[in-house]
Amino acid sequence: MGVEIPELGVPIKGKVRDCWIINKNGIDYRVMVTTDRQSAYDRLICTVPGKGQVLNMLSAYWFDKTKALVANHMVEVPHPNVLIAREAKETLPVEVVLRRYMAKSSTSTSIYHNYAHRVRNEIYGIKFPDGLQANQEFPMGTILTPTTKAESGHDQELTDEQALKIVDAKLGNGTWNKAKAAAHKIFESGRKQYMDNGLILVDTKYEFGIDSLGNLMLIDEVHTPDSSRLWLAETYKDKFENEQTPDTFDKDILRRWLAEKGFTGDGLVPQVDTAIIDAMVDAYVAPYKMVTGRTLSSQHDPDVISKEVSHHIKAFASR
Ligand SMILES: Nc1ncnc2c1ncn2[C@@H]1O[C@H](COP(=O)(O)OP(=O)(O)O)[C@@H](O)[C@H]1O
Ligand SMILES: [Mg+2]
Repeated sequence: MGVEIPELGVPIKGKVRDCWIINKNGIDYRVMVTTDRQSAYDRLICTVPGKGQVLNMLSAYWFDKTKALVANHMVEVPHPNVLIAREAKETLPVEVVLRRYMAKSSTSTSIYHNYAHRVRNEIYGIKFPDGLQANQEFPMGTILTPTTKAESGHDQELTDEQALKIVDAKLGNGTWNKAKAAAHKIFESGRKQYMDNGLILVDTKYEFGIDSLGNLMLIDEVHTPDSSRLWLAETYKDKFENEQTPDTFDKDILRRWLAEKGFTGDGLVPQVDTAIIDAMVDAYVAPYKMVTGRTLSSQHDPDVISKEVSHHIKAFASR
């Protein structure tokens, strides 16, 4: 689903989104096209048909749900793969990650790995109590584990103190504390509503920016299976007690499959089985349906989608 709009120049390409910045009447807009590209371990792995639509529509849903709590960048959604946003004048140089459970993970940088193997006493400057089990809910509630926003390569772990220094040095005193408070509010709202619909919001990542008036706003995406871990609530307790992996609705499915094939980021990317792609499609679509009660467009032809997307973006640019 490569969208080309020569009139608008070359898009800024992220791992998942292609973006154009369009200025209209002195205001900068970020036109974001969410594609079906799937990355894991910081590498492009495959495409998951319909995934872009789920991410975009689920983000739009949550931006709308949380806008009274915290301002965000959403302006309009002219197509299921497109979100038009207010471009941030500046962005927080830190990813705001919140976690509620000790998710089991084999990644060497994960909290679980460091905790279980007693690599260090403190992780993100947090001292974790003894006796925590894999996939257990943290007894201290939601924790904040900020990281740097690396341009390339892996994000680096930060303590709260380090994040405060970096963020406030760039954006003024008080910014970090404001972002933290905002993040906790959105997370609580997300957790409650996902839970009401049978899902556990295990952890998530937020990005924040500063708008043209100097106000904090939530940007990028929110509470999607790409930025969050989601588990099925119904089976969680049983799985946890039996030390089994929770039923998961996120890219852990792909990460685990890749790890079994011996791929954790380096070397040739294995060709992903269609069964895994199908499982990924289900993993993305299920939470969308569960939480919104809505269905998605059945249009998956990449050429048709590209044409529609380009039509809507041109219409926005010229109106
Ligand atoms: N409102 C905004 N203003 C400025 N930048 C934004 C805004 N919303 C999202 N972004 C940036 O747009 C990019 C989205 O593309 P994505 O594919 O998600 O990138 P990444 O590979 O960094 O995850 C990210 O770099 C994100 O920080
Ligand atoms: Mg992103």
